[in-house]
Amino acid sequence: MADTIEVLIPEEQIDTRIRELAKQIDSEYAGKSVTLFVTLKGACFFACELAKRMTVPIFMEYIQAASYEGTSSTGTITMKLDVPDDAVAGKHVIIVEDVIDTGRTLAAVKDLMQARNPASLAVCSLLDKHECRVVPFEGDYIGFSIGNDFVVGYGLDWDQKYRNLPYIGIVR
Ligand code: IMP
Ligand code: MG
Repeated sequence: MADTIEVLIPEEQIDTRIRELAKQIDSEYAGKSVTLFVTLKGACFFACELAKRMTVPIFMEYIQAASYEGTSSTGTITMKLDVPDDAVAGKHVIIVEDVIDTGRTLAAVKDLMQARNPASLAVCSLLDKHECRVVPFEGDYIGFSIGNDFVVGYGLDWDQKYRNLPYIGIVR
């Protein structure tokens, strides 16, 4: 039987919010160029929409982190797709993510990026599930703060399904 998806954030609302984020980032990075580090796979839908609405010069890079839950409660993050140091050093870097959940992935990715000496480093996430944090982590640009429901769509998957939904939904 097909899953039922309840719309949590409709497409029009996402579009409006992405325009606002792009405008805010544009004004805060005026006169600079920005390198967007898109975390695969989920954030690419959001990152493309954001990039198209930004007017400062941008460069796009892609990273992929994989998390493994060990026997301890601290997940280990490894990079499945990494980038050369010269894509980061001296650059104004914004990591673009789909959702911040426990905070483990971004805390690790941000440390890895920081070690490569960017001129500046920020995190932009479409969604923030703040109440799910296991490690302390704050994003700099957040589209929407949501509760602890598992969400799909706009790049987010459930077992690789539903990434292409044009809205954010909850599987019921
Ligand atoms: P965390 O912040 O390290 O826990 O992990 C964030 C990653 O977990 C995200 O990049 C997503 O890939 C995945 N994730 C967390 N919550 C959800 C969700 O509600 N739907 C789909 N993927 C999720
Ligand atoms: Mg992700």
